[in-house]
Amino acid sequence: MYNKIIVFEGIDGSGKTYHIKKVSQYLKYKKIKFIKIREPGGTKNSEIIRKIILNGKSTFKKKTDLLLYLASRNENYENLIKPNIDKKIILIDRFKDSTIAYQHYGMRINKDIIEKINNFIIGDLKIDYTFLHTVPLKSIKKKISGKKNKYDMFNKNFYKEVQRGFLKILKKNKNKLIIDSSKSKKYNTQIIKTKINKILNINE
Ligand code: TYD
Repeated sequence: MYNKIIVFEGIDGSGKTYHIKKVSQYLKYKKIKFIKIREPGGTKNSEIIRKIILNGKSTFKKKTDLLLYLASRNENYENLIKPNIDKKIILIDRFKDSTIAYQHYGMRINKDIIEKINNFIIGDLKIDYTFLHTVPLKSIKKKISGKKNKYDMFNKNFYKEVQRGFLKILKKNKNKLIIDSSKSKKYNTQIIKTKINKILNINE
């Protein structure tokens, strides 16, 4: 059974984008059909929304940001996810847990509201597996090197709260693996690959 939805989560600079890329390369090599989506972003329309939110000069209020993230998700869900469910593997760089972690645990927006709008968009869509990339607390920096989006403005404590949020959200979820970014990229690539083989029934 191939057609699963696999999500890569974690705070900025945790290495999730590196690993989702590695998994894509591996699936390509194995000639397995998949699509890769990033949030915010993904479709043409949601990339437009991404630019608006992540613009370093953006002065949107936090509830405006929340609604934009969710608007971007709706574009992805209707145009990319829904038509591909049960057809292809779907890899997603950030999904609904990012909204709870950043907008609720980080920005303190009411959780029920976020969950309600999220359910309104994706209904009971099942995530098959989540890789949560974590950064050791002492290594969480104020500025994530090389990045110039709006979230670079937030302080260390914000990222600590967001990471704590991710861990809380996924605590009871059996279908997840926590990836410790202080381990080598090579080591993490290998354990993710082993897990992917298991989830997707791939023979090495
Ligand atoms: P990301 O794509 O990881 O940034 P980059 O490509 O620069 O590595 O994510 C962009 C930012 O959006 C990130 O700081 C987290 C934030 N975000 C939220 O706050 N809520 C959400 O629901 C999502 C999907 C992202």
